[in-house]
Amino acid sequence: MPFLDWVNKNQAKAAVGAVPTHLLQQEAVFGGSEDTPPENLLIQGDNLLALKALIPVYAGRVKCIFIDPPYNTQSAFEHYDDKLEHSQWLSMMYPRLVLLRELLAEDGSIWVSIDDNEAHYLKVLMDEVFGRANFVTTVIWEKADSPRNSARQFSSDHDFIFVYARHPDWTPIKLARTAESDAIYSNPDNDQRGVWLPGDPYANKPYSRGQYSVAGPTGRIFSPPPGRYWRISEEKLRTLDADGRIWWGPSGDARPSIKRYLSEVSDLVPRTLWHKDAVGSNRTSKNEMRALFPGQESFGTPKPERLLQRALHIATNPGDLVLDSFLGSGTTAAVAHKMGRRYIGIEMGEHARTHCVFRLQKVIDGEQGGISEAVGWKGGGGFRFCTLGQTAFDADGRINPEVRFGTLAAFIWHYETATPAANALNKPLLGLHNGAAYYLLYNGILGDRRPQGGNVLTHAVLQMLNEQYPHDGPKVIYGETTRLGDAKLAAEGVTFRQIPYDIKSR
Ligand SMILES: C[S@@+](CC[C@H](N)C(=O)[O-])C[C@H]1O[C@@H](n2cnc3c(N)ncnc32)[C@H](O)[C@@H]1O
Repeated sequence: MPFLDWVNKNQAKAAVGAVPTHLLQQEAVFGGSEDTPPENLLIQGDNLLALKALIPVYAGRVKCIFIDPPYNTQSAFEHYDDKLEHSQWLSMMYPRLVLLRELLAEDGSIWVSIDDNEAHYLKVLMDEVFGRANFVTTVIWEKADSPRNSARQFSSDHDFIFVYARHPDWTPIKLARTAESDAIYSNPDNDQRGVWLPGDPYANKPYSRGQYSVAGPTGRIFSPPPGRYWRISEEKLRTLDADGRIWWGPSGDARPSIKRYLSEVSDLVPRTLWHKDAVGSNRTSKNEMRALFPGQESFGTPKPERLLQRALHIATNPGDLVLDSFLGSGTTAAVAHKMGRRYIGIEMGEHARTHCVFRLQKVIDGEQGGISEAVGWKGGGGFRFCTLGQTAFDADGRINPEVRFGTLAAFIWHYETATPAANALNKPLLGLHNGAAYYLLYNGILGDRRPQGGNVLTHAVLQMLNEQYPHDGPKVIYGETTRLGDAKLAAEGVTFRQIPYDIKSR
């Protein structure tokens, strides 16, 4: 397979392995309740670091990634610069795509919007990262309402959205039928089965055995034109005709058609041309932005909510996890929230706070713009707002001594259970999950303030845990090392996990 090459590609490849693992620092929680903290996550920070921070917990868990990265239009927006040299842009995208792939579930898909500036280079790059066999399609989104007559050569009316699956057997969820798609059905013969469409009786391939001729109600004889074949056997055609399922035209002397009843057709397979009337245009999103942020400039080119709604409908079910690592003003997260999907959004700019937090708070409060009415959105739910905290490991691969107990505990809890911690974690017993108790021995949590104090699982420490935090069931204990042998651990129902190795290994 041909690969794309560019200046410093090797460095871009090496960059993936060199990204340090940061711990997430929770800044605030919006909505949700104390016992069930919201799973949705908004992270402010460079997405290269943020994606790496997500790997330990979220690898293989994301059902749909939708990203709208800087298109490299060579313009400088108010909130971010979109002006990289082409090789730099590829070097920016490469490690991020590699990490995104790691996060994608086996039945997941990734959607990337882009325009002519970098689209064709991105396609080849994504073939390399995701596998050419996993390329699903290019969606063409009609973004312009009217032509831009001031354009020097062509008015650019569309963006591309590349869709790749994690595996080639990925199947899209079909779209609900619309009044428009149903309007082409009619019932000229008052068939009691309802409206129908005439279906072609001929095919380009010989599906049924034998070429035959058939006489219609007026005696007129029909057979397929040269190079075409009957779609069904003669016997099947006669059976359908006897059941009133063949249409010979209003006078009974037209070529037979096989009736396709509206009541028997399924939902609509998604098409690749997405018209502005169905999913909104750049003008739609501008209006959505004006309503959300009155008097403020919008930045970049936010997408209309209906565009995201269609993508998420095709790629996810309620409850699935959606990720956007170039969140902009938060459209993907807002739409996922209203559609009952879980989500993670990453945005490095200050607009993570000014726009994303603000917008998602409004969504929780029942904001009625965008797709709200269409999905019956009434408000509710919540999200956690995080920044990037300390790096988890120091240069020697040991836990960074700056990392505090609560931060490491929250990381381990999330890592083990894939659920956010409900309370502030400030004791060795982090909590119970699926019948197992999780403990952490770190930074002198047992009272000994020396760095190593109490971080080793000895007989005495285990006895103390059993007395102070008893649990009648399996226990998972994290610590620096253990002095207990395998037999003792097994007898006590303890699985010991060594810091940092058992954290880094995933
Ligand atoms: C085109 S905008 C996305 C608009 C978004 N789809 C919406 O509807 O609002 C691209 C965003 O990516 C952000 N971005 C660019 N590089 C980033 C990085 N390395 N990490 C995180 N965000 C980044 C920019 O700040 C910008 O807000």
